[in-house]
Amino acid sequence: MSDSAFHYVDGVLHAEGVSAASLAEQFGTPLYVYSRDALTQAYRAYADACAGRNATVHVAVKANSNLAVLNVFARMGAGFDIVSSGELARVIAAGGRAENAVFSGVGKSAAEMREGLEAGVKCFNVESIPELHALNEVAKSLGKKAPVSLRVNPDVDAKTHPYISTGLKSNKFGVAFSDARATYAQAQAMDHLDVVGIDCHIGSQITEISPYLDALDKLLELVKQIEADGMSIRHIDVGGGLGITYDDETPPAIGDFVTTLLDHIEERGHGAREVYFEPGRSLVGNAGVLLTRVEYLKPGEEKNFAIVDAAMNDLARPAMYEAYHRIVPVVKRDAAAQIYDVVGPVCESGDWLGRDRELALVPGDLLAICSAGAYGFVMSSNYNTRPRAAEIMVDGERARLVREREDVKQLFAGESILPD
Ligand code: LLP
Repeated sequence: MSDSAFHYVDGVLHAEGVSAASLAEQFGTPLYVYSRDALTQAYRAYADACAGRNATVHVAVKANSNLAVLNVFARMGAGFDIVSSGELARVIAAGGRAENAVFSGVGKSAAEMREGLEAGVKCFNVESIPELHALNEVAKSLGKKAPVSLRVNPDVDAKTHPYISTGLKSNKFGVAFSDARATYAQAQAMDHLDVVGIDCHIGSQITEISPYLDALDKLLELVKQIEADGMSIRHIDVGGGLGITYDDETPPAIGDFVTTLLDHIEERGHGAREVYFEPGRSLVGNAGVLLTRVEYLKPGEEKNFAIVDAAMNDLARPAMYEAYHRIVPVVKRDAAAQIYDVVGPVCESGDWLGRDRELALVPGDLLAICSAGAYGFVMSSNYNTRPRAAEIMVDGERARLVREREDVKQLFAGESILPD
């Protein structure tokens, strides 16, 4: 969690100038809390390193698509990386511009392509030959040319969790490196496509720069071949993936990461091309926490359980990836700590948020699950008919509700029973 945005004042956790305990009182739990300052600082780190370097930032909407969060970035001039027409609608509703959006995703439907083209997105990141044909047809029906970049799979090991590694041959993503040149030639031959760039995304929560440099070297080699075939590659999209500190990881600082990649591209003689970054987690991950209240303490023979009111439906990452999120007390308590598994009320053994955590707790205590700003709320569900949490944005001394807590009735409002 961002130490400047989330810190203790007299033993009470604060988000910027607001006590987390008072937020929980006012808005209830479970509660996602974001810091505008932390979002701003992370974005600035990218933007400052890109300044004067022909490089742009496209915020990966999937990591956190709350309108207020997107709006913070839109106000700072961000572009966006979208993977559905739903995300496109959110970008526009949040004050972003379609012309600054790149449309990624392995399975865009014809309807989504149409919406993207009509809105005027900057580029489609295409992942297969059938998708090229589909996009060409849709563009033809609209009398347009679709700007296209191919997502190439550079077959490098991003050294991250297998579920969030995407650049290996065995992944479903991208065009195989060995097929890329021929696929570009096919794209060039289609009347309603305009080849403008190249793209890769090798995975997520990557904490070393070397996999990026390996991927770039392969991409730049390919760019030479494609240009020899008569196409002009105006931009290189290096994807997202930069990791954050959840526990003791030591990812490169954002500015160093950006500068190293841009220098690498320049040193290899490709400095004239625009470079796109597509960060998600590194912008929003440590700008958010999930507040939850301890319902029950349940001592066991082998384990002690702290049963809290947040669950796997609110934060899926531990259950899905065995992901580690630091869990800290909202009010520090001067008492003997015990080892707890912090678990939710959902009827699944996989419903845990943290294992073997040393905490001093009594029922009713508040906990903050850290680093929950990325892939937190966006991956939440209504499993067990649990309304999704509210979201708050703190800005200095002020806290704003930026998404209301769901109401049970909303959850089945679209359902009906058979008439007879
Ligand atoms: N660009 C593309 C094409 C992507 O597929 C992704 C993430 C990003 C950018 C942003 O990557 P980031 O900077 O956030 O690493 N739910 C998983 C992460 C899935 C990432 C999917 N793609 C998790 O909770 O760890």
